[in-house]
Amino acid sequence: MSGYTRKWVGGVAVATLALGALGAAGASAAPGKPGESRYTAGASGVGDEYFPYAGNGGYDVEHYDLDITYTPPAPSPAPVEGEFEGVATIDLVATQDLDRFNLDLRGMDVEALSVDGRPAASVAPPVAGAEVDGQAFWHVQDDAARVWELTVQPRPKLKAGQHVQVVVEYGGTTTRPLDVEGALYGWVTQRDGAMVVSEPEGSMTWYPVSDHQTDKATYSFEITVPEGKVAVANGIQPRPEETADGWTTWYWDAPDQQASYLTTASVGDFDLRDAYTSASGVPIIDAVDTKLSPTRLATTNASLGRQADMIDFFESKFGPYPFVAYGSIVDNDSVGYALETQTRPVYSSQASEGTVAHEAAHQWFGNAVSPERWQDIWLNEGWATYATWMWNEERGIRTAQQSYDNWYAPARNQAYWDFQIGDPGPLGLFAGQVYNRGAATLHALRVEIGDEAFFEAARLWVERFDDSSGTADDFQAIYEEVSGQDLEAFFQTWLYDQQKPPATWTTP
Ligand code: TRP
Ligand code: ZN
Repeated sequence: MSGYTRKWVGGVAVATLALGALGAAGASAAPGKPGESRYTAGASGVGDEYFPYAGNGGYDVEHYDLDITYTPPAPSPAPVEGEFEGVATIDLVATQDLDRFNLDLRGMDVEALSVDGRPAASVAPPVAGAEVDGQAFWHVQDDAARVWELTVQPRPKLKAGQHVQVVVEYGGTTTRPLDVEGALYGWVTQRDGAMVVSEPEGSMTWYPVSDHQTDKATYSFEITVPEGKVAVANGIQPRPEETADGWTTWYWDAPDQQASYLTTASVGDFDLRDAYTSASGVPIIDAVDTKLSPTRLATTNASLGRQADMIDFFESKFGPYPFVAYGSIVDNDSVGYALETQTRPVYSSQASEGTVAHEAAHQWFGNAVSPERWQDIWLNEGWATYATWMWNEERGIRTAQQSYDNWYAPARNQAYWDFQIGDPGPLGLFAGQVYNRGAATLHALRVEIGDEAFFEAARLWVERFDDSSGTADDFQAIYEEVSGQDLEAFFQTWLYDQQKPPATWTTP
């Protein structure tokens, strides 16, 4: 890891330890020593070095049921703020004997919380080490340190393997949250609704969550908005929307394992289109803002019209489409980027064909198989970019080799090559190198081991780590297993060496 990253993470850790009352930092609590309670606090993070307080330890979430009522901002004047009320019903299973455990929740207030139907008392965060009586919850929110932790002390304590249902009633005024590098993310309030895109740890801005992809879960949604607004989340509509007294409730079900950052529940003036399937039968449900200009609507419609072909093409290369449905949300507003939200990517302003191919490929690379640590982000963006190179070849625009050459040929400054895509740091997750050097890495790998091994290993990667996550080392291991080659030097050069990789590759 670069010194730069270490410093950043260290800064957060130091700043936040003083907060106390959060539960043990780090991945797992030590087993009880003799004479001590075997019930311990679940960790306040899953141990991701880039986001030490993302996700939580001590339990696995099985299902989130999110019941949301949302009022978009008044048409004018400023501020752009909405009103949000939520009830999150979280089914989880303890993975250790738990005295207390955390959820991540940012910028919302908890009004009530219960465990298996028994209400918990709302208390002030105790000073570190202090005891709290009875079943209780407390909420630490430190924007400067970027620490947002809701702690639940269940009584009775939870035994490892025990299933419980936690219901959190919460809400507040929605704003326009920023990620660590200053990009809009999370529940991004828009005049006409909300664009909800939460990579890497912005889901906590709109529901209480173990906000890390190593704890995937299924989801269901009930979203109530003023009549005329359309709410679109992941998956399928289990039943039609219902309107009464000026409010419409939209129902969505996402029955596939899903990472928190891939959850969406966007609200807007959408034209909901539910009319077609891929050749393999994947239903495609699109939501397109009715306010797109004619030019942007034409671009968007042409791109969305190719989604079924893209799924067919990627299935032929990467294996079966991994989820129940697909489709896109195209908003007239912008957060500055698109996101591959599971089964239903969100696009800013319009959807170009290249971006639609990119987000479609993420369904295999990033969504079915997620990066186990944020450090492994090149596995997402390198693959999605490379798949777009493949799509451009399929469409007769240019070959993947030509895309590679276009990346390789130009002279670039040393700062470009200094950047390590295998350890980009929390501020470098979406740097250009992660995308383009990442794609070039995959192309060089393909040239190195040949098409047959390259695609066989890609399919094995998706199959073996489906509904889960993997690291760059797991990825290398699969490619070594399938190709029979030692690829250590290859990955060292492409992911970490701070120079332009050599033009040709031969295994030492
Ligand atoms: N993951 C998105 C994509 O490549 C990009 C993305 C997420 C992003 N958050 C961002 C890009 C913040 C820039 C800034 O499809
Ligand atoms: Zn991407």
